[in-house]
Amino acid sequence: MQELRVELADRSYPIVLGGEMAAGLPKRLIDMFPDARFALVTNTTLKDLYRDHLSSWKSQLQFVEHVMPDGEEYKSLECWREILATLLTTRGLDRRSVVCAFGGGVVGDIAGFAAASFLRGVNYVQIPTTLLAMVDSSVGGKTGVNHASGKNRIGAFFQPRLVWADTEYLTTLQEREFLAGYAELFKYAFIGGEDMFAFVMSRHDAMLAREPEILTEGIRRSMQIKARVVSQDEKESGMRALLNYGHTFGHSLERSFKYAGILHGEAVLWGMACACDLGKRAGTIPAEHISAYDAICKIMPTVQLPARPPVDELYQGMFTDKKTHGATIRFVLPAQPGTSIITSDVATEDVLATLENALA
Ligand SMILES: NC(=O)c1ccc[n+]([C@@H]2O[C@H](COP(=O)([O-])OP(=O)(O)OC[C@H]3O[C@@H](n4cnc5c(N)ncnc54)[C@H](O)[C@@H]3O)[C@@H](O)[C@H]2O)c1
Repeated sequence: MQELRVELADRSYPIVLGGEMAAGLPKRLIDMFPDARFALVTNTTLKDLYRDHLSSWKSQLQFVEHVMPDGEEYKSLECWREILATLLTTRGLDRRSVVCAFGGGVVGDIAGFAAASFLRGVNYVQIPTTLLAMVDSSVGGKTGVNHASGKNRIGAFFQPRLVWADTEYLTTLQEREFLAGYAELFKYAFIGGEDMFAFVMSRHDAMLAREPEILTEGIRRSMQIKARVVSQDEKESGMRALLNYGHTFGHSLERSFKYAGILHGEAVLWGMACACDLGKRAGTIPAEHISAYDAICKIMPTVQLPARPPVDELYQGMFTDKKTHGATIRFVLPAQPGTSIITSDVATEDVLATLENALA
């Protein structure tokens, strides 16, 4: 069991990472919140898979349980309202209460937003169960729900009090979901420094094979990088945008498929390859490092796109990204190995050529 920390002054919090830690969770929660009542939000899949964990925790914490349906489509205002209804109608839940999110990014985002809004904000704890949630969504305090006008359009920055990442849960994760989460881990190779670049290059196969120690080390390094970035730029006014490496292209791809038939992480894998290609065209990668990027892009998993979207549509889609500033796209492009830069100084022809190349 290891502990990291997100440093945010009086809102700092620990991240506990390890394997088979279920038995230790109730004590940790009771120690942290001695007089609190608990609510736990999860989904039907996790409830079935981890019934024994939940009943053991319940016998010690006596929480009220809210089980939501499984799926991105339920990260909605309607389901958020249902969680709030549970919180509001449970006797004894007050401002000292703690909302625990037990699940992947969907459960974490919506439960975090419910915690942010219930009684103007109560404590919440992230218990991530997917690789994506461990390396990305459980750390950093972005909470929210989707809206018909787009993904994650409604929400709040609201930091958890504890992240409890038990890698045991990854053993039951479907291969496709694992790979989608691995995309976000792989992303840190491009933005997390030279050491992370080298680590991913040398440990890629072992992590993909879910070798416990090496995978845990990859998760630890990813969480540490994310924690460092969030500590320096909580609300994404500057360097936190680096975490969007691969996402400008990826979001546009997801949108063009109307979020069906492709997972977010799969779109990010495609987007990261695009960013490397554009980095070469735009000259952000120094000549002596091009071979290092060729090598990492060669090992990066590739995805089979369900169809070939029109280049123009993908290009236009990049302007409607939430992270775009007006008519300017802020690209995150690779530079030295492990380092990316944020730039808008990119020729349209280069972006179009990258898109053509990625769809060839
Ligand atoms: N808040 C942030 O900073 C942030 C960052 C990235 C992504 N996100 C959000 O995260 C969401 C995606 O998260 P996700 O990829 O975890 O998807 P998810 O929560 O939908 O989980 C994927 C699938 O795996 C199942 N599952 C979860 N844990 C499991 C386990 N241990 N064993 C077996 N099955 C399990 C889920 O029930 C679901 O069917 C998106 O809504 C995205 O917008 C948020």
